[in-house]
Amino acid sequence: MKTHKTKTKQKEVKSLLSLMDVDAKKIDELISLSVAIKKNPGKYSKKLQGKTLLMIFQKPSLRTRISFEVAMNSLGGKAIVTEMSALPIGQKESMEDTAKVCSRYVDAIMARLFDQSELIKLKENSTIPVINGLTNEFHPARILSDLLTIYEKKKKLKGLKLCYLGDAKNNVTHCLLIGCAHMGIDISVACPKEMMPRAEIVSKAQEIAKKSKSNCKILITNDPKEAIDNADIVYTDSWMSYHILPAEKEQRLKALKEYQVNSEIVRYAKKDYIFMNCLPAMRGYEQTAEVMDGQNSIVFDQAENRLHMQKAILLSLLK
Ligand code: NVA
Repeated sequence: MKTHKTKTKQKEVKSLLSLMDVDAKKIDELISLSVAIKKNPGKYSKKLQGKTLLMIFQKPSLRTRISFEVAMNSLGGKAIVTEMSALPIGQKESMEDTAKVCSRYVDAIMARLFDQSELIKLKENSTIPVINGLTNEFHPARILSDLLTIYEKKKKLKGLKLCYLGDAKNNVTHCLLIGCAHMGIDISVACPKEMMPRAEIVSKAQEIAKKSKSNCKILITNDPKEAIDNADIVYTDSWMSYHILPAEKEQRLKALKEYQVNSEIVRYAKKDYIFMNCLPAMRGYEQTAEVMDGQNSIVFDQAENRLHMQKAILLSLLK
């Protein structure tokens, strides 16, 4: 992962703020480590003895919160969970000062925040690793574990085709674009015009695909049938991400209806396609119950792998 020099101390610190902080080699290493840990968790039970992870949540969480806490415990360390609303950040204390104080107490910080810019502030003022546990813009830990799950199911990454349908101006799509570009997975995104992924992230993915010689194809379209054609992986995410206001719901549901993953559209994917959703999922919204609970769905294996990948990420940053 990318290292940075802190302003206060000339000490190298590794962090995971987005998948731009890793490359294909690092992702391969993390996948191999997760596979090894999953096979033999006992071997790693003391690796983080004496280490403490602080977790700060500005948004709700199930998988990220529990898997990181269980991961720390089963590696022999400890985790402290705090809600952002319980901290003086943004009221009596700045993010910068919070970072400086916490760096003196704990060994790493995992934060789930609204703004990526706040997470960058946290990192730039910390002398310890900072992990992105989801911002409006990126969700790197989730996509690393998804790459592990795809690898487990398909026995390879390079040369596969992933199709994403739904709200693409979001954290999960952004990280899928970067992650697929690193690993040589073709990615086709279909979404409404007003929910396209951010242009600079698409450009970054294209640049990574070119530089890493992964040569994957990147397609952004408004046509779901074009995107899903012959896909190995069909991925969707919530139509109402945590940062979306309830007032937008009605209009979003209308715009996204055409991008629902249902038994009709999946006929265009490969027969042995796998269905993925980072969860939480709403049956009847971004996918039907039939798809979510059907035989091609691997959403709960995906959820399990958060735990194994979290351990690999923590070991890689803290050891
Ligand atoms: N895009 C979703 C991901 C949830 C894990 C959200 O931000 O709420």
